[in-house]
Amino acid sequence: MRTYTNNEKRYQAACEVIPGGVNSSLRRCWPYPVFVRSKGAVITDADNNEYIDYHAAFGPNVLGYNDDAVDAAVSQAIEDIGLIGVGTTEQEIQLAQKICQHVPCAEKVLFSNSGSEATYAAIRLARAVTSRKKIIKFQGAYHGWHDYLAMNVISAPEKLGERDPLSAGSLPEAIEQTLICSFNDLDDVEDTVRAHKGEVAGIILEPILHNIGCVLPQPGFLEALREITRREGIVLIFDEVITGFRHGLGGYQKICGVTPDLTTLGKSMANGYPISALCGKRELMDRFRTHPDGDVFFAGTFNGHPVGCAAALATIEVLERESTYPHLFGLGERMRKELSEIISRLGLKATVAGFGSVFLTYFLEGPVRNYSDLLRNDAALFVKYRKDLIQRGIFKLPMNLKRNHLTLSHTEEQVSRTLEASEDVLQRLVKQPVAAGARESQS
Ligand SMILES: Cc1ncc(COP(=O)(O)O)c(C=O)c1O
Repeated sequence: MRTYTNNEKRYQAACEVIPGGVNSSLRRCWPYPVFVRSKGAVITDADNNEYIDYHAAFGPNVLGYNDDAVDAAVSQAIEDIGLIGVGTTEQEIQLAQKICQHVPCAEKVLFSNSGSEATYAAIRLARAVTSRKKIIKFQGAYHGWHDYLAMNVISAPEKLGERDPLSAGSLPEAIEQTLICSFNDLDDVEDTVRAHKGEVAGIILEPILHNIGCVLPQPGFLEALREITRREGIVLIFDEVITGFRHGLGGYQKICGVTPDLTTLGKSMANGYPISALCGKRELMDRFRTHPDGDVFFAGTFNGHPVGCAAALATIEVLERESTYPHLFGLGERMRKELSEIISRLGLKATVAGFGSVFLTYFLEGPVRNYSDLLRNDAALFVKYRKDLIQRGIFKLPMNLKRNHLTLSHTEEQVSRTLEASEDVLQRLVKQPVAAGARESQS
């Protein structure tokens, strides 16, 4: 029997000094976990409860927590160099070279520390090079916390079709410049571009819509976006903060064969250490004021920090091994296949989705092409399933539509245990349907 006494005490202590007890809006989670250790695929809370983890901190840990090689590289970097903050470091050069080697659109690279900083810089650059103001994003996508893009992620049904900012205090003038389209809906994109002819600076998208689980682009969608943006002089930005490095060294653009003008990277790039990148075509990137002829301001005290660079270089070294992606994708395929088998055995109305190391079960009948399709998901069942799994030591974020991640450190045995627990929990839930009242509880 798991107890949570220390978790609760420490959570109360956290709430005294941290608003809501957590440092990021989506980290608040039942039943008040306070984590004290992580290694490989296992995380441990303040009551020494262990969990096989599939949250992976929203995605960064692609090799597993506390990877020895990455941690050793970080220790070495700390010994060799702190933060110098003038000129550049050897680590920054080497990492930029690696990204240019692997990512198709990358001719030049700039580093920052979070995905939000990278997408902010991408939007600023797109506006500068086009002398236009408007940006198109897709319903369900998340690109960071800034006013330019923090809107229309998991919107209430009545908010669809209008601006739905994530935050009070957002600047209305910034929100107004962002246009929302439906993913996989080319007519919507064409109509929007036509209605704002000559005004759209950039289209930004997650090439796989992972912030609402896993919604894949339909054949031809990304190619058509490339064509439209070329035709209309719009900057095409792939936000590969999740897909980059997790699905392949060259990001999803290498897999799908569509090369954007700019790409943002983060998360898996450094297996849990903070670093992000914006890369793209030389003529665009040289507009940044880091270049002597540039006029687009780009700055940050901690940009290109040796710790993040060393962690990224060590992570990429592991990802470059021939066996890495086949192993990650193999685990993902097994998980999806066997979860689908469980669902058909139990006769559940559910759809297993995923790509590579990402997987999740939606409680709806497919197909899933965009956010509107996901309004049919049984959110109460989705969350209850995950809460019950947590009680059995399997950690999947108990929040509607959130994806799960496998890492290189997950073993076949851990996958087997997860599948057994999943079948058991689902079987019980089939027998005892989730109460209608629980439908309101989505986190
Ligand atoms: C696709 C995508 N872009 C950008 C971001 C923002 O990254 P960060 O949280 O590092 O600012 C996220 C974060 O989840 C993301 O999923």
